[in-house]
Amino acid sequence: DTLTIVDHPLIQHKLTILRNKETPTAHFRQVLREVAFVLGCEATKDLALGEVTIETPLEKVNAPYLEGKKLCFVSILRAGNGLIEGLLDLIPSARVGHVGLYRDHETLEAIEYYFKTPDKLNERLVIMVDPMLATGNTAIAAANKLKDAGARDIKFLCLVAAPEGVEKFSKAHPDIPIITAALDRELNEIGYILPGLGDAGDRIYG
Ligand code: PRP
Repeated sequence: DTLTIVDHPLIQHKLTILRNKETPTAHFRQVLREVAFVLGCEATKDLALGEVTIETPLEKVNAPYLEGKKLCFVSILRAGNGLIEGLLDLIPSARVGHVGLYRDHETLEAIEYYFKTPDKLNERLVIMVDPMLATGNTAIAAANKLKDAGARDIKFLCLVAAPEGVEKFSKAHPDIPIITAALDRELNEIGYILPGLGDAGDRIYG
């Protein structure tokens, strides 16, 4: 299926803290990092395992070991950076790409200002991350650019998604699964997710 809603109690609890407008910046950043760690577990649960032979202090044993594609996280700036630290806590060896996109406040179109990714994207599992999927314009533009750069195996990890964005993104990129902590009610007239958590970039960076 293209949409997975992760209803782990830790994620739901932490998301409530993030939604709360009383949560101060330092705490918001910390909880975002924690929630990313748990979401990262979900996004990587189908990684391929091989086997290695090791010796425990007692005997030789064949044991599971990751094999196959290496990972690349892609942060959609700015707010994606709030999730990257938690994902790197989970998988410290992953590569990281950056896509700079901001929404034009009038048209809600995504405007690109930066693009830098590690090489051999085609050989990696690419996980793009952004706390919010609102209209879907940003995520669609990011996925287009990543595919142009060679990415073939992509997932999109977010925190809060609007139904409008899920529908638009899935139409544009039916091959990219969306993993989110919550599917919210709707977008308001200026493209904010309701109930949402506000503007994630502003809440992290001001
Ligand atoms: C926000 C958010 C997403 C985008 C989602 O970023 O972090 O990137 O909007 O909206 P969409 O689905 O309608 O495109 P914003 O443009 O506020 O930039 P920022 O992260 O730099 O603050």
